[in-house]
Amino acid sequence: MATLEIRDLVVSVEGQIILNGINLCVHSGETHAIMGPNGTGKSTLAQIVMGHPKYRVESGDMLLNGESILAMPVDERSRKGLFLAMQNPIEVPGVTNFDFVRSAVASRLEKGNHLRIGKFILQFEDTAKKLDMGTNLAHRYLNQGFSGGEKKRNEILQMALIKPSIAFLDEIDSGLDVDALKIVGENVTRMKSDHLGLILITHYQRLLDYIVPDFVHIMIKGNIVRSGGRDLIEKIDHEGYDWLKNELGIDELEEHKPQVSIGICAQGAPRREGI
Ligand SMILES: Nc1ncnc2c1ncn2[C@@H]1O[C@H](COP(=O)(O)OP(=O)(O)OP(=O)(O)O)[C@@H](O)[C@H]1O
Ligand SMILES: [Mg+2]
Repeated sequence: MATLEIRDLVVSVEGQIILNGINLCVHSGETHAIMGPNGTGKSTLAQIVMGHPKYRVESGDMLLNGESILAMPVDERSRKGLFLAMQNPIEVPGVTNFDFVRSAVASRLEKGNHLRIGKFILQFEDTAKKLDMGTNLAHRYLNQGFSGGEKKRNEILQMALIKPSIAFLDEIDSGLDVDALKIVGENVTRMKSDHLGLILITHYQRLLDYIVPDFVHIMIKGNIVRSGGRDLIEKIDHEGYDWLKNELGIDELEEHKPQVSIGICAQGAPRREGI
Protein backbone atom coordinates (compact mmCIF):
# COMPACT_ATOMS: atom_id res chain seq x y z
CA MET A 1 0.00 0.00 0.00
CA ALA A 2 1.27 3.47 -0.84
CA THR A 3 -0.03 6.93 -0.02
CA LEU A 4 0.98 10.20 -1.59
CA GLU A 5 -0.01 13.20 0.47
CA ILE A 6 0.37 16.75 -0.73
CA ARG A 7 -0.03 19.31 2.02
CA ASP A 8 -0.61 23.03 1.44
CA LEU A 9 1.89 22.99 -1.38
CA VAL A 10 2.96 26.36 -2.78
CA VAL A 11 5.25 26.18 -5.80
CA SER A 12 6.90 28.86 -7.90
CA VAL A 13 8.80 28.98 -11.14
CA GLU A 14 11.17 31.83 -11.82
CA GLY A 15 9.68 33.82 -8.96
CA GLN A 16 6.07 33.38 -10.04
CA ILE A 17 3.68 31.38 -7.83
CA ILE A 18 2.07 28.61 -9.87
CA LEU A 19 0.57 26.32 -7.21
CA ASN A 20 -1.30 28.10 -4.44
CA GLY A 21 -1.57 25.65 -1.56
CA ILE A 22 -2.57 22.31 -3.08
CA ASN A 23 -3.87 19.53 -0.85
CA LEU A 24 -4.32 16.08 -2.30
CA CYS A 25 -4.24 12.53 -1.02
CA VAL A 26 -3.87 9.50 -3.25
CA HIS A 27 -3.80 5.92 -1.99
CA SER A 28 -2.73 2.97 -4.08
CA GLY A 29 -5.82 1.29 -5.45
CA GLU A 30 -7.43 4.65 -6.27
CA THR A 31 -7.69 6.47 -9.59
CA HIS A 32 -7.91 10.26 -9.48
CA ALA A 33 -8.50 12.55 -12.44
CA ILE A 34 -7.29 16.16 -12.47
CA MET A 35 -8.90 18.44 -15.02
CA GLY A 36 -8.61 22.19 -15.50
CA PRO A 37 -8.01 24.95 -18.02
CA ASN A 38 -4.67 25.37 -19.79
CA GLY A 39 -1.88 26.91 -17.75
CA THR A 40 -3.53 26.23 -14.44
CA GLY A 41 -0.69 24.20 -12.89
CA LYS A 42 -1.58 20.56 -13.57
CA SER A 43 1.75 19.63 -15.14
CA THR A 44 3.55 21.71 -12.53
CA LEU A 45 1.99 19.53 -9.83
CA ALA A 46 3.05 16.32 -11.56
CA GLN A 47 6.56 17.62 -12.17
CA ILE A 48 7.17 18.98 -8.69
CA VAL A 49 6.11 15.64 -7.19
CA MET A 50 8.71 13.97 -9.39
CA GLY A 51 11.33 16.55 -8.41
CA HIS A 52 11.82 18.68 -11.53
CA PRO A 53 14.56 21.20 -10.66
CA LYS A 54 12.84 24.04 -12.57
CA TYR A 55 10.21 24.38 -9.85
CA ARG A 56 10.69 25.63 -6.31
CA VAL A 57 8.67 24.57 -3.30
CA GLU A 58 7.93 27.75 -1.33
CA SER A 59 6.01 26.04 1.45
CA GLY A 60 4.04 22.92 2.24
CA ASP A 61 5.11 19.32 1.99
CA MET A 62 4.83 16.17 -0.11
CA LEU A 63 4.85 12.86 1.68
CA LEU A 64 5.13 9.36 0.32
CA ASN A 65 4.02 6.80 2.87
CA GLY A 66 4.40 9.43 5.57
CA GLU A 67 7.95 10.39 4.62
CA SER A 68 8.73 13.80 3.14
CA ILE A 69 10.14 13.56 -0.37
CA LEU A 70 11.13 17.24 -0.57
CA ALA A 71 14.84 16.57 -0.14
CA MET A 72 14.93 13.45 -2.31
CA PRO A 73 16.51 13.52 -5.78
CA VAL A 74 14.43 12.33 -8.74
CA ASP A 75 15.95 8.85 -8.89
CA GLU A 76 15.22 8.21 -5.24
CA ARG A 77 11.60 9.30 -5.71
CA SER A 78 11.38 6.88 -8.59
CA ARG A 79 12.86 4.04 -6.58
CA LYS A 80 10.34 4.78 -3.83
CA GLY A 81 7.55 4.15 -6.33
CA LEU A 82 6.70 7.47 -7.98
CA PHE A 83 6.32 7.69 -11.75
CA LEU A 84 5.45 10.39 -14.26
CA ALA A 85 4.31 9.84 -17.81
CA MET A 86 5.25 13.23 -19.20
CA GLN A 87 2.98 15.52 -21.21
CA ASN A 88 5.89 16.11 -23.56
CA PRO A 89 8.32 13.19 -23.30
CA ILE A 90 11.86 14.27 -24.08
CA GLU A 91 14.09 12.73 -26.73
CA VAL A 92 17.36 11.22 -25.50
CA PRO A 93 19.68 10.52 -28.42
CA GLY A 94 22.32 7.87 -27.74
CA VAL A 95 20.30 5.91 -25.18
CA THR A 96 18.20 3.10 -26.59
CA ASN A 97 14.69 2.65 -25.40
CA PHE A 98 15.49 -0.81 -24.13
CA ASP A 99 18.59 0.27 -22.18
CA PHE A 100 16.68 3.12 -20.61
CA VAL A 101 13.89 0.93 -19.26
CA ARG A 102 16.29 -1.85 -18.30
CA SER A 103 18.40 0.58 -16.23
CA ALA A 104 15.30 2.01 -14.56
CA VAL A 105 14.01 -1.45 -13.65
CA ALA A 106 17.44 -2.74 -12.55
CA SER A 107 18.03 0.28 -10.29
CA ARG A 108 14.84 -0.48 -8.42
CA LEU A 109 15.83 -4.03 -7.50
CA GLU A 110 16.74 -4.86 -3.91
CA LYS A 111 20.49 -5.00 -3.19
CA GLY A 112 21.95 -8.32 -4.28
CA ASN A 113 19.20 -9.02 -6.84
CA HIS A 114 20.00 -8.95 -10.54
CA LEU A 115 17.77 -8.43 -13.54
CA ARG A 116 17.17 -11.67 -15.40
CA ILE A 117 17.76 -10.29 -18.85
CA GLY A 118 16.11 -13.08 -20.86
CA LYS A 119 12.91 -12.80 -18.86
CA PHE A 120 13.04 -9.01 -19.10
CA ILE A 121 13.39 -9.08 -22.90
CA LEU A 122 10.29 -11.27 -23.11
CA GLN A 123 8.39 -8.90 -20.81
CA PHE A 124 9.51 -5.91 -22.87
CA GLU A 125 8.43 -7.54 -26.13
CA ASP A 126 5.14 -8.74 -24.71
CA THR A 127 4.32 -5.28 -23.31
CA ALA A 128 5.29 -3.55 -26.57
CA LYS A 129 3.04 -5.98 -28.45
CA LYS A 130 0.10 -5.34 -26.15
CA LEU A 131 0.56 -1.62 -26.82
CA ASP A 132 0.70 -2.34 -30.55
CA MET A 133 4.15 -0.75 -30.86
CA GLY A 134 6.63 -1.33 -33.67
CA THR A 135 9.04 -4.25 -33.33
CA ASN A 136 12.22 -2.18 -33.81
CA LEU A 137 11.25 0.10 -30.98
CA ALA A 138 13.58 -1.52 -28.44
CA HIS A 139 16.66 -0.53 -30.40
CA ARG A 140 15.72 3.01 -31.28
CA TYR A 141 16.98 5.92 -29.22
CA LEU A 142 14.59 7.01 -26.50
CA ASN A 143 11.73 8.93 -28.13
CA GLN A 144 13.97 10.16 -30.93
CA GLY A 145 11.90 10.57 -34.06
CA PHE A 146 8.92 8.91 -32.38
CA SER A 147 5.54 10.24 -33.45
CA GLY A 148 3.46 12.00 -30.79
CA GLY A 149 1.37 8.87 -30.28
CA GLU A 150 4.41 6.59 -30.14
CA LYS A 151 5.92 8.75 -27.40
CA LYS A 152 2.75 8.43 -25.35
CA ARG A 153 2.60 4.66 -25.76
CA ASN A 154 6.25 4.52 -24.82
CA GLU A 155 5.51 6.23 -21.51
CA ILE A 156 2.95 3.51 -20.78
CA LEU A 157 5.43 0.82 -21.80
CA GLN A 158 7.86 2.23 -19.23
CA MET A 159 5.17 2.35 -16.59
CA ALA A 160 4.15 -1.26 -17.25
CA LEU A 161 7.73 -2.47 -16.78
CA ILE A 162 8.82 -0.16 -13.95
CA LYS A 163 5.64 -0.96 -11.97
CA PRO A 164 5.32 2.20 -9.85
CA SER A 165 3.03 2.49 -6.85
CA ILE A 166 1.88 6.07 -7.55
CA ALA A 167 1.80 7.25 -11.18
CA PHE A 168 0.93 10.58 -12.76
CA LEU A 169 -0.18 10.29 -16.39
CA ASP A 170 -0.03 13.82 -17.80
CA GLU A 171 -2.26 14.13 -20.87
CA ILE A 172 -1.51 10.59 -21.93
CA ASP A 173 -4.38 10.94 -24.41
CA SER A 174 -2.98 13.90 -26.33
CA GLY A 175 -1.71 12.93 -29.75
CA LEU A 176 -3.36 9.52 -29.70
CA ASP A 177 -5.65 8.50 -32.52
CA VAL A 178 -8.96 6.85 -31.64
CA ASP A 179 -7.60 3.30 -31.86
CA ALA A 180 -4.44 4.14 -29.91
CA LEU A 181 -6.51 5.82 -27.19
CA LYS A 182 -8.48 2.61 -26.79
CA ILE A 183 -5.30 0.51 -26.65
CA VAL A 184 -3.62 2.79 -24.12
CA GLY A 185 -6.82 3.03 -22.07
CA GLU A 186 -7.20 -0.73 -21.97
CA ASN A 187 -3.55 -1.28 -21.07
CA VAL A 188 -3.65 1.22 -18.22
CA THR A 189 -6.93 -0.21 -16.94
CA ARG A 190 -5.35 -3.68 -16.94
CA MET A 191 -2.55 -2.27 -14.76
CA LYS A 192 -5.00 -1.00 -12.15
CA SER A 193 -4.56 -2.85 -8.88
CA ASP A 194 -4.52 -2.38 -5.13
CA HIS A 195 -0.81 -1.63 -5.53
CA LEU A 196 -1.18 1.29 -7.93
CA GLY A 197 -2.51 4.79 -7.34
CA LEU A 198 -3.19 6.67 -10.56
CA ILE A 199 -3.49 10.40 -11.17
CA LEU A 200 -4.75 11.10 -14.67
CA ILE A 201 -4.36 14.64 -15.96
CA THR A 202 -6.59 15.21 -18.93
CA HIS A 203 -8.83 17.68 -20.72
CA TYR A 204 -11.23 15.13 -22.14
CA GLN A 205 -13.94 12.77 -21.04
CA ARG A 206 -12.99 10.20 -23.68
CA LEU A 207 -9.87 9.07 -21.75
CA LEU A 208 -11.91 8.76 -18.58
CA ASP A 209 -14.41 6.55 -20.41
CA TYR A 210 -11.60 4.02 -20.77
CA ILE A 211 -9.79 4.59 -17.46
CA VAL A 212 -12.59 5.24 -15.04
CA PRO A 213 -11.59 7.47 -12.09
CA ASP A 214 -12.81 7.15 -8.51
CA PHE A 215 -12.33 10.85 -7.81
CA VAL A 216 -12.30 13.93 -10.03
CA HIS A 217 -10.55 17.18 -9.10
CA ILE A 218 -10.81 20.51 -10.87
CA MET A 219 -7.76 22.74 -10.76
CA ILE A 220 -8.08 26.43 -11.53
CA LYS A 221 -5.37 29.03 -11.04
CA GLY A 222 -3.06 26.77 -9.09
CA ASN A 223 -5.59 25.35 -6.71
CA ILE A 224 -7.97 22.43 -6.50
CA VAL A 225 -11.26 24.27 -6.33
CA ARG A 226 -13.66 21.36 -6.55
CA SER A 227 -13.48 17.61 -6.05
CA GLY A 228 -16.19 15.11 -6.65
CA GLY A 229 -17.39 12.29 -8.79
CA ARG A 230 -17.76 11.38 -12.41
CA ASP A 231 -20.66 13.79 -12.90
CA LEU A 232 -18.08 16.60 -12.88
CA ILE A 233 -16.43 15.15 -16.00
CA GLU A 234 -19.60 15.27 -18.03
CA LYS A 235 -20.44 18.78 -16.88
CA ILE A 236 -17.00 20.03 -17.89
CA ASP A 237 -17.15 18.22 -21.19
CA HIS A 238 -20.44 19.92 -22.01
CA GLU A 239 -20.09 23.30 -20.34
CA GLY A 240 -16.37 24.02 -19.82
CA TYR A 241 -15.22 25.81 -16.66
CA ASP A 242 -17.05 29.15 -16.72
CA TRP A 243 -19.94 27.88 -14.57
CA LEU A 244 -17.47 26.89 -11.87
CA LYS A 245 -15.50 30.12 -12.08
CA ASN A 246 -18.78 32.04 -11.79
CA GLU A 247 -19.99 29.90 -8.91
CA LEU A 248 -16.73 30.37 -7.03
CA GLY A 249 -16.31 34.01 -7.99
CA ILE A 250 -12.95 33.37 -9.63
CA ASP A 251 -11.81 36.12 -11.92
CA GLU A 252 -8.55 36.67 -13.71
CA LEU A 253 -7.08 38.82 -10.93
CA GLU A 254 -7.75 36.50 -8.02
CA GLU A 255 -5.00 34.15 -6.97
CA HIS A 256 -5.88 32.34 -3.75
CA LYS A 257 -8.94 30.19 -3.38
CA PRO A 258 -10.11 28.07 -0.48
CA GLN A 259 -9.48 24.35 -0.65
CA VAL A 260 -12.15 21.71 -0.70
CA SER A 261 -11.84 18.82 1.71
CA ILE A 262 -12.36 15.72 -0.45
CA GLY A 263 -9.13 14.03 -1.46
CA ILE A 264 -7.21 15.25 1.58
CA CYS A 265 -5.53 12.68 3.83
CA ALA A 266 -7.47 12.96 7.07
CA GLN A 267 -5.40 11.84 10.06
CA GLY A 268 -6.84 8.59 11.33
CA ALA A 269 -10.00 8.93 9.27
CA PRO A 270 -11.33 5.94 7.35
CA ARG A 271 -10.43 5.76 3.70
CA ARG A 272 -13.00 7.39 1.48
CA GLU A 273 -14.95 5.06 -0.75
CA GLY A 274 -14.81 5.52 -4.50
CA ILE A 275 -17.79 6.82 -6.41
N1 LIG B 1 9.75 29.04 -16.70
C1 LIG B 1 8.56 29.58 -16.51
N2 LIG B 1 8.41 30.91 -16.27
C2 LIG B 1 7.22 31.47 -16.07
N3 LIG B 1 6.06 30.79 -16.07
C3 LIG B 1 6.12 29.48 -16.29
C4 LIG B 1 7.37 28.80 -16.52
N4 LIG B 1 7.10 27.50 -16.70
C5 LIG B 1 5.75 27.36 -16.58
N5 LIG B 1 5.17 28.55 -16.35
C6 LIG B 1 3.73 28.84 -16.22
O1 LIG B 1 3.14 28.01 -15.23
C7 LIG B 1 1.75 27.90 -15.51
C8 LIG B 1 1.30 26.49 -15.28
O2 LIG B 1 1.82 25.65 -16.31
P1 LIG B 1 1.44 24.11 -16.39
O3 LIG B 1 2.27 23.54 -17.49
O4 LIG B 1 1.56 23.50 -15.05
O5 LIG B 1 -0.10 24.18 -16.81
P2 LIG B 1 -1.11 23.02 -17.18
O6 LIG B 1 -2.27 23.16 -16.25
O7 LIG B 1 -0.42 21.72 -17.21
O8 LIG B 1 -1.59 23.46 -18.65
P3 LIG B 1 -1.97 22.58 -19.95
O9 LIG B 1 -3.37 22.11 -19.73
O10 LIG B 1 -1.89 23.58 -21.06
O11 LIG B 1 -0.96 21.47 -20.08
C9 LIG B 1 1.56 28.41 -16.93
O12 LIG B 1 0.94 29.67 -16.91
C10 LIG B 1 2.97 28.50 -17.47
O13 LIG B 1 3.10 29.51 -18.43
MG1 LIG C 1 0.06 20.43 -18.71
